[in-house]
This record gives sequence, structure tokens and C-alpha cells, in this order.
Amino acid sequence: MRRRYFCPVCRVEVTPQTIKTYAFDGSVIEGVYCPVCGSILEARRKVVDEPFRDYRVEKGLYVAFEGIDGSGKTTQVEKLVERLEAMNVDVVSVREPWLDASKEILYNYRIDPDAEVYIFAADRIILQREIVLPALRGDKVVVSDRSFYASLAYQSSLGASQEFIWAANRWIKLPDIVFLLDLPVEKALERIKGREALTKYERIEFLEHVRRKFLKIASEVNESRFIVIDATRDIEKIAEEVFNHVIKEIEARGIKRR
Ligand SMILES: Nc1ncnc2c1ncn2[C@@H]1O[C@H](COP(=O)(O)OP(=O)(O)O)[C@@H](O)[C@H]1O
Ligand SMILES: [Mg+2]
Ligand SMILES: [Zn+2]
Repeated sequence: MRRRYFCPVCRVEVTPQTIKTYAFDGSVIEGVYCPVCGSILEARRKVVDEPFRDYRVEKGLYVAFEGIDGSGKTTQVEKLVERLEAMNVDVVSVREPWLDASKEILYNYRIDPDAEVYIFAADRIILQREIVLPALRGDKVVVSDRSFYASLAYQSSLGASQEFIWAANRWIKLPDIVFLLDLPVEKALERIKGREALTKYERIEFLEHVRRKFLKIASEVNESRFIVIDATRDIEKIAEEVFNHVIKEIEARGIKRR
């Protein structure tokens, strides 16, 4: 017989309802609820085996564009998606931050840099859970406007420690390829000066700092995950170079076309 629990709200013994929630890190949370009033009576967290963990997916191809504001990320995401679709590749495009609720806080309030790290990490977990990981599991190509590495460059430039940023993002699936669009800050700001209001991130000294951080990260990350692109060049030239890298990787991984 199932164990009975005392519900402190209803003040009677009840046969509880158990609801399982699969957490992003692969553990399972078993919540025990009162069937009458819905109060939570107990919660247990169990760790499941490594291979079942969500972020462990090794299929598909996860491509991200990084670089300071005005470096051409959104332009290149669109170009790449267009070219891949023309080749009948299944492609899903996303951007970080993902949720309007996250953007509302991040762009309109001055908040503690550690709090920003959490908001970006939470936003990324939701995006990966709902869109990125299912697409990769379906062997699709995911093209992302920014990624974890933007948190590393921007939030550490605001004073959060790199160790903390890594820790808050420890269950995040990292991109397979990162194109770092690099160019002098003045050139980038020149390109976006028509934009209505600059966000708090778009100050020149700050962006200089972020640019250097990105280059440092690119030089420290081993493997060939990072590809530094001279973003002062013509849009089509850059798109061509990016496409050549991506198509080679698609073939190397045996990703099927439609
Ligand atoms: N290689 C390039 N050369 C010149 N202008 C560019 C280039 N790439 C993008 N732009 C222009 O610069 C502006 C910012 O580009 P965008 O893709 O929005 O940058 P980001 O998404 O990195 O902020 C846009 O007006 C875009 O048309
Ligand atoms: Mg953009
Ligand atoms: Zn109850």
C-alpha cells in the first residue's frame, strides 16, 4: 500500500499524488502533493545516469555567432540560414536572450552582474530545453545569434567571475562551432548608430573590453571550436567563408538533407 502523509493544511491523513519533473541536469524531481488542496508535502531529487542527461546530445550541428554589437551577427545568421535552406538542410535559428521576459529585465534595469548571469543562464536553459536540444536530437542544424560565450565575455566584463559564469551554466550544451565576428569597436558602433536607443552594453570602453575578452576566450578554448572572422570585410565574403566551414562540418557528421 502507498504511504499516507499528513497534510498540515487539510489536517488529515491523505494518500498523496506524485508528480515527476525531469530537470535539465538529468535528475528527476519527485514531488509529493496533497490530492485535496495541492500543497507540496515532500520533494525528492534523484540523479539518473549520465548518458540520459539532456545536454549530452551528440547529434546535429550547433553553430553560434559571437561578437560585439554591430559586428554583423544577425546579418550572418540570416545569410547562413538562407544558404542552408537552399541546400535542403533542416535548420532552426534562435537568438539569445530568448524570452521577452528576460529581455525586459536585462535591457531596462540596472541589476547586479551576478543576477544577470543567472537570468541569462535561466533563459538559456529554457531555450535549450524547448528548442535547441530537441532540434539537435532530430539531427538538425541550429544557428544561434549569441551563446554561452556571450555571457562569458559580457558578464565578466561587468565584473562577474568567469568561474561563477561557468558554474551557473554547467549543464549547458556548448556550440560545436563559434564564429567570432571581430572588428574595431568604432566600426561596429558606426554601423549601429542609426539604431534608436543604444542598450547599456553599447558604450565604447565597455565594448573594447568585451572585444578583447572574446579574442582571449577564442585563443584559450582548445579544439577548433572558435573561428575568428575578420568582420570588416564585405557581407557576402564573410557569408561565403562561414558557409564553407559549416557545409564541411555537415558532411563530416553525415547530417542528412531533405
Ligand atoms: N560586413 C558588413 N559590412 C558592412 N555593414 C554590415 C556588415 N555586416 C552587417 N552590416 C550592417 O551593420 C548593421 C549591424 O549588423 P547586425 O547584423 O545587426 O549586427 P549585430 O547583430 O552583430 O548587432 C546592419 O545595418 C547591417 O546591415
Ligand atoms: Mg543582432
Ligand atoms: Zn491538503
